[in-house]
Amino acid sequence: MTSPLTALVNIISSNVQSLEGAYAKAETPFPSLDDPFRPTLLDFDPSLAETRNLIVAAAAQLLATVRSPIEMLQDYAPGMYWTATLGFVVDVNVPDILKDAGPQGLHVKEISAINGIDPSYLSRILRFLATRHVFKEVTPDVFANNRLSSLLQKTKSVEEIKADPVGRFDGAPLASFISAFADESLKSCAHFSDMLQNPSKAAAAFNIALNTEAKMWDWYEEPGNEWRARRFTAAMTGGADRFPSEIFTNGIGGKDLQEGDVVVDVGGSVGSAVLPMYKAFPHLKFVVQDLAKQVIAAEGFWKEHAPEAVPSGRVKLQAHDFFTPQPVKGAAVYFLRVVIHDWPDHDAKKILQHLRDAAAPSSKLVIFDSLAVHTCEDPSANPATVQKAPYPLLANLGIAGAGFNTSLDIQMMNVFNGKERTEKDFKELGNATGWKFESLTPGLLPTFTFSAA
Ligand SMILES: C[S@@+](CC[C@H](N)C(=O)[O-])C[C@H]1O[C@@H](n2cnc3c(N)ncnc32)[C@H](O)[C@@H]1O
Repeated sequence: MTSPLTALVNIISSNVQSLEGAYAKAETPFPSLDDPFRPTLLDFDPSLAETRNLIVAAAAQLLATVRSPIEMLQDYAPGMYWTATLGFVVDVNVPDILKDAGPQGLHVKEISAINGIDPSYLSRILRFLATRHVFKEVTPDVFANNRLSSLLQKTKSVEEIKADPVGRFDGAPLASFISAFADESLKSCAHFSDMLQNPSKAAAAFNIALNTEAKMWDWYEEPGNEWRARRFTAAMTGGADRFPSEIFTNGIGGKDLQEGDVVVDVGGSVGSAVLPMYKAFPHLKFVVQDLAKQVIAAEGFWKEHAPEAVPSGRVKLQAHDFFTPQPVKGAAVYFLRVVIHDWPDHDAKKILQHLRDAAAPSSKLVIFDSLAVHTCEDPSANPATVQKAPYPLLANLGIAGAGFNTSLDIQMMNVFNGKERTEKDFKELGNATGWKFESLTPGLLPTFTFSAA
């Protein structure tokens, strides 16, 4: 049998050839790490996603195999400094300041003149990040944006950002996302181990860290947290844009629904998942439900993206707490996108039970959520929905297949005591609440479909 090292190198080499071949065929140069991210269609081509995943999975496993285990752990242990430094550069607008400087970059003293941060702090923090391929150090202490750091830019100028602290993250999903991780998530991490060893202490580490009994959503609604609520909306709205809209239009089976059928987006935030459905299916009506403050944000979202939708009555924005009885009875479809993973089983069951109580016999429940996959082969998994990883890769392709998913799982545990679930977990939730599991469509965001049992 080929040695693991050689097998890993072979996976990298054959897939790099395919990737370069695809770029050559499209007459597109392979993007350089040194240049700001300028998306091309190839960056989002689903047929290349598996090729990229195999390269990343094999490269990560090669690194873990050949590198000294002491060095690996020395690198992992201070992992919080990734979060802290990324959050810091976003807070003090470094990617935005570098935006206009172009490839020649700016000296830390010039950055300091704009954001007021001591140049020696900037120098060390940017060196830490440039060592990890975020920013490029052009000459000593002169930094420029690169492929990764350019994505941390906000959409506004530095002057506009400073003038509007509450709305400074609008339209900037990655900056929002990183800022939230470096804020409430990092603070909660300080109590992570203590909380898990003493689960009766609070609902989640978040509650100890922020000294509140409120769930994060309710805490966002407290005075002083308006900017955090707005930042979260920006992270969710933009984060969702990375999913191809067919996931949602196919997921609700819109083509098979009847004229006037109602689709309810439960915990829908502004309703960005509904937008592609609304455009694809003029025969359907939609209700977007969320907590009251989110409904205000939703009004702005629909005015911007489809101003006729709400006045025409085809889209209704409704304040609704999903722990209370569902007001829309007998909808054709109730769907939840990345909502169920926020909740522990007992709460997830209450949410699904309220939907079941409101459902008609023909109603469907559709859950768009992450799928947790074991790192080894899982005999209980449906072979039709699990792709077999080539030797010697981990069954879930390690960080390439499940890096973000496993991080989100820990985030859910830390902040909400929620969880990412396996197929078996979803079936159990359905069984406990009167929903019969029908199918799982795997993909970038898996779709779980249930019928009223
Ligand atoms: C992770 S976000 C997902 C938002 C949306 N489904 C999407 O994909 O963009 C979870 C949403 O659940 C909402 N939420 C939390 N608690 C709720 C409750 N008790 N009733 C209704 N919505 C709630 C939050 O306000 C937030 O918008």
